[in-house]
Amino acid sequence: MSAPVYLCRLDELADPGSKGFEDIDGQKPFFLVRRGPEVFGYRNTCPHYGAPLDWKPDAFLSYDKDMILCSMHSALFNIDDGICVDGPCPGQGLEPVKIALKDGGIFLAA
Ligand code: FES
Repeated sequence: MSAPVYLCRLDELADPGSKGFEDIDGQKPFFLVRRGPEVFGYRNTCPHYGAPLDWKPDAFLSYDKDMILCSMHSALFNIDDGICVDGPCPGQGLEPVKIALKDGGIFLAA
């Protein structure tokens, strides 16, 4: 069993905020979304067309920062379950990435 991989500290993320990661521990690109004390992780691949969601580095949220936004065709996804609730792929979901919070740090779960 491999050790959890450290990503960043919770307080490095804006609240609400998001941050993208590439080339970490052999993982496909993924991103984190912070909402208060919670953090969610998803692959950076939209279920609609397979495009990356961000329009610039670390920009994964809607204008109001209450939804995840795919910049390609404006699909909106729930932050907590990654399900598309508006746009061209309703009901489809982002692929979750398992993460863990420990002592203020965010880790890729083993
Ligand atoms: S690729 Fe994301 S909405 Fe089309």
